Amino acid sequence: MEKRELLYTGKAKSVYATDNADQVVILYRNDTSALDGKRIEQLDRKGMVNNKFNAFIMDKLAAAGIPVHHEKLLSDTESLVKRLDMIPVECVVRNFAAGSLVRRLGVEEGLALNPPTFELFLKNDALGDPMVNEYHVRSFGWATDEQLNRMKVLSFQVNDVLSKLFDAGNMLLVDFKLEFGTFHGEIMLGDEFSPDGCRLWDKDTRKKLDKDRFRQNLGNVVEAYEEVGQRLGITFD
Ligand code: TMP
Repeated sequence: MEKRELLYTGKAKSVYATDNADQVVILYRNDTSALDGKRIEQLDRKGMVNNKFNAFIMDKLAAAGIPVHHEKLLSDTESLVKRLDMIPVECVVRNFAAGSLVRRLGVEEGLALNPPTFELFLKNDALGDPMVNEYHVRSFGWATDEQLNRMKVLSFQVNDVLSKLFDAGNMLLVDFKLEFGTFHGEIMLGDEFSPDGCRLWDKDTRKKLDKDRFRQNLGNVVEAYEEVGQRLGITFD
């Protein structure tokens, strides 16, 4: 496998072509953003931590039968993945109220949501990733009914697998965001799963162990990500 030209630069990752049209290399950078990219800082080690964290989680999801784009780690900060045609919609599952749900509905942070909720957001920084519903997704042609249903089923499967995994490390999976794409017509989980795109709290103290530490200026951001990894048995060095 040969790494070729830069295809796309996101807020925290860069995507490179390879000599195989079906594969791309993802480079995890230390950039950390909030406020739809309006605040960006460099956090030492974050690229490496998220790359290894994501590989561990994707392998667990694949072992549970969920189709994922991840193929293998290439280096501390690079992974080889299948090249997907991305669906421009973010799927968010919530087990407890936090973040935008608390702001939108005025409910108390930490309220248990039973059953968990499923929300859709359009990937558009200029518009601030607005919330959309299933009719918007179909009418604007971002995904078909069948694709949308598959994304929903897979999102709840991911929730079942990962809620148990984090529970074993004495953590609550509060909420998370997934992005899907198609690979030769099949819906597959793309992007990443790391503490940048989910909320994780210690079960006893409810200490925040995710990107809210950056958003809320709580400090020790990467240290918290590494603590989550250590609780799951991931080694970073
Ligand atoms: P929210 O409470 O801000 O709507 O976010 C819900 C979860 O989804 C939280 O874990 C953060 C994650 N998320 C992202 O990672 N990127 C996004 O663009 C959005 C809207 C949410």
